[in-house]
Amino acid sequence: MKLVIATANQGKVKEFSAALAHLGLELLTATEVGVKDFPEETGANYKENAAIKALHVAQLSGLPSLADDSGLEVDALNGAPGLYSARYGNLNSDSERTAFLLSNIENIETSKRGAKFVCSLVLVNPDGLSKSFWGEAKGTLLRAASGSDGFGYDPIFYSFDLDKTFSEASKDEKRKVSHRGHALNEFEAWFKTEEAKTFFSSHP
Ligand code: IMP
Repeated sequence: MKLVIATANQGKVKEFSAALAHLGLELLTATEVGVKDFPEETGANYKENAAIKALHVAQLSGLPSLADDSGLEVDALNGAPGLYSARYGNLNSDSERTAFLLSNIENIETSKRGAKFVCSLVLVNPDGLSKSFWGEAKGTLLRAASGSDGFGYDPIFYSFDLDKTFSEASKDEKRKVSHRGHALNEFEAWFKTEEAKTFFSSHP
């Protein structure tokens, strides 16, 4: 059974591949099935955006496709950047967006720097059938980056579960507690059900 990881984000590709490797699926990236461009994320929420990406790749590849839409919700910013985490400040790199976020919460005291990562994972097959999963991870934002692994806002996100930033954690450690890891766990539990067998059965 083939499954396309419907994202252009190489950080996400690595996390998806590592988490799904043991399920016996043949994992393909969007690039490997010839999908280079993704549609604009015009959804009103994470689930709609994930479905836009997954459906796009499922229709172009003719294969079941799994996409996520995720974001960082900062308490002191009323949930921003949230849905717009990837485009925050109209900046072009993870380090610029992280620096911009830190400057926006410069005056927020340590006890009020709470934040959570959220992830909606949507699986779509070419017939349009879909299934969705959800995960969250809670933490607090540091005043400076720490650690060199991961991507996005990982260097400033201090995980309450790990007692270190996501960038200081190994890939395995991050996967066990992260928003994407939790959503992938839900996917894995569902994947073992009869419903999943039917979902994948009409495709190679
Ligand atoms: P999107 O899901 O492609 O819209 O992008 C979500 C954005 O949220 C990413 O580009 C990152 O900036 C941020 N993000 C989502 N998940 C993570 C994560 O696991 N670590 C760090 N940043 C993340």
